[in-house]
Amino acid sequence: YLISDLDIIQTFFRILTHHLHRFKCRFLILPKGRKIALTTIGVLTTGGAGLALMLQQSVKASDLELHPPSYPWSHNGLLSSLDHASIRRGYQVYKQVCSACHSMEYLAFRNLVGVSHTEAEVKTLAEEIEVVDGPDDTGEMFTRPGKLSDYFPKPYSNPEAARAANNGALPPDLSYIVSARHGGEDYVFSLLTGYCDPPAGVSVKEGLYYNPYFPGQAVGMAPPIYNEVLEYDDGTPATMSQVAKDVCTFLRWAAEPEHDQRKRMGLKILMGASILVPLVYYLKRHRWSVMKSRKIAYRPPK
Ligand code: HEC
Repeated sequence: YLISDLDIIQTFFRILTHHLHRFKCRFLILPKGRKIALTTIGVLTTGGAGLALMLQQSVKASDLELHPPSYPWSHNGLLSSLDHASIRRGYQVYKQVCSACHSMEYLAFRNLVGVSHTEAEVKTLAEEIEVVDGPDDTGEMFTRPGKLSDYFPKPYSNPEAARAANNGALPPDLSYIVSARHGGEDYVFSLLTGYCDPPAGVSVKEGLYYNPYFPGQAVGMAPPIYNEVLEYDDGTPATMSQVAKDVCTFLRWAAEPEHDQRKRMGLKILMGASILVPLVYYLKRHRWSVMKSRKIAYRPPK
């Protein structure tokens, strides 16, 4: 006798529906009072569980911390790529504003080629920095202009220097920051644009700034951007939200350079699978049809 997995699952569901049906029949023949009592217990239990869950969550959230809303990023869609003009502007923001305090030590100039800049442009960008290289023939270190293969320059040579220059707060490396924080670019955008006066009765220590999105609400970073903090090369009006949006898009690309390719690959796999899966299903039915339509009968000996 042939028992396939499908048979077992079918049997299981048959038993399940049978018991559900029995339970329903038993419930229906109960006296009215019992019915009401049982229903009340059911509702109360579900309500109680819901209330407990809500209470637990409301106790967890600190009442002054704001959670970032989800913004409609143009790269949010299942098949949407990053906005590369925005990455380019975002790099400009990083270079002119954030790089004064934040390193991006996992990014090299060559990574920008074909993403936000042409190779010639990136070469010019790289040549703007001075890199210590060596030793040369005489054993001396020397400085040379940057090359495509050089990594982004760091603002501080070590974390201690970074802390000393920032009231003891360490500006984190931004290479992977949008993946390293809950809320990703929504959080970073909210953090950058969310500075405000503390509510009445709340005071922050000197050297800290009130920001409702930062855990603890007192952040060691002074508001880094404002309207017209820089002038975009492509002429886009540099409003505060535009600057924040562009730098967040740039940071998303930095944290996930494979973003566009991942989505293109996903589309290809979906298209391939939509052809292959029905074919394979048909083939399976075809191969099994003999087995599945067999009738096994028991004929008792006469
Ligand atoms: C004047 C120095 C300075 C500049 C300029 C600056 N930051 Fe910061 N940033 C800091 C410091 C210091 C911290 C650490 C704050 C703390 O831990 O309290 C920080 C923290 C952060 C954090 C992490 C917050 C967290 O959740 O831990 C992000 C994200 C960030 N900065 C983004 C940026 C971006 C984007 C820019 C450019 C638009 C920028 N910063 C410009 C000094 C700076």
